[in-house]
Amino acid sequence: MSNSPSRAEAHGADDLFDKYTLPKIALGVILTASFVGAWVSTRLTGSGVALAAVRWAYFVSLGILAGGLLWKHVFVRPDDLETGAQDYCAEMYERFDRIAIGALVVLAVSGTVVSWTYASRLDWGPAVGVYCAVLGLWVTAMTVTTGRTQSVEVQFRSVLGVVVLGLALAVTVGTAIMEVRIRGFGPVAASVRVFHLLAFAVWIGGAVWNIFVAVPTGRQRPTAAVARAAGEQLERFRWAVRVIIPTLFLTGVYQAVDVLGTTGSTYLGTSLGLAVLAKVGSVGVLVVIFKLCPMWRACSPIDGVCDLDDLGGTVTDNGEQTEGPGVPNDD
Ligand code: HEM
Repeated sequence: MSNSPSRAEAHGADDLFDKYTLPKIALGVILTASFVGAWVSTRLTGSGVALAAVRWAYFVSLGILAGGLLWKHVFVRPDDLETGAQDYCAEMYERFDRIAIGALVVLAVSGTVVSWTYASRLDWGPAVGVYCAVLGLWVTAMTVTTGRTQSVEVQFRSVLGVVVLGLALAVTVGTAIMEVRIRGFGPVAASVRVFHLLAFAVWIGGAVWNIFVAVPTGRQRPTAAVARAAGEQLERFRWAVRVIIPTLFLTGVYQAVDVLGTTGSTYLGTSLGLAVLAKVGSVGVLVVIFKLCPMWRACSPIDGVCDLDDLGGTVTDNGEQTEGPGVPNDD
């Protein structure tokens, strides 16, 4: 059973302001926290805000693609393609492909600049060669899969699809290792940065998918089967976020202590320290939003997606809901 407040309470919150802006506010906080992170790590290598902006564009496009691929092949499940939600999944794939084209352009441009900084700081060593080769392979394979028009059944967890997802995660890991290498490699620092960057990528990619792919597609097809598939996918993403939040917090604090130490005045009296404190605050805001979203049914405007218990009843093979209060509507 759900322990969420009643529909009346949820609608009370709705009267105050458009509650569906909460996930968008969360995305804004994630974008801001990642820009601050990119600025901090750029400053620590002695470069300015222009390079920080390019690195941020690189991290964001990488995250949108890697996190989106994770949703496409992991949060979507085989059952979703068999219980009346296959058209919904196909439409989501198409929407994601359109977003992926833009992200690929940004990644290709910003990735060239970022690779150049790694190469010049690491004297064109073999590690840079491996990183550039994996990045080039991924961008090429991703461009091929994005440009193809194939049915969702063919694309879903296809060999090429899974390879592209694997390459996306490899590029994320490789980026974190390169970032640490340019200031002096250490296995613990590298592992911590890998988890920080992976957590960020999964979060921003999943948030973009939920807001710009899952919700608009679900609104076009508000059937019970779609609401159930969308709700279950969202719940899998929520489980990922339950891991992501402590991961970002712990790895973030470790990195901050590693570079700035533990003296309070360093945090309160320097721009780098204040940036780190702002990031800690951003995690607090994100935790509050994460808690409020299901309480206010604010994760999605489609009934039943936010809380699976709202759907009740059962769904037949052709996607009709036979009983229960939650036949979805698009409010
Ligand atoms: C307690 C909260 C957090 C702390 C203390 C923190 C701290 C840091 C620090 C110190 C860096 C620079 C690492 C270095 O150059 O050695 C960094 C980088 C970064 N952070 Fe965070 N962070 C936190 C939360 C977040 C959140 C919520 C996001 C976004 C969802 C985020 C995304 C990033 C990104 C994208 C980078 C750049 C990674 C890189 O240069 O490889 N961080 N963070």
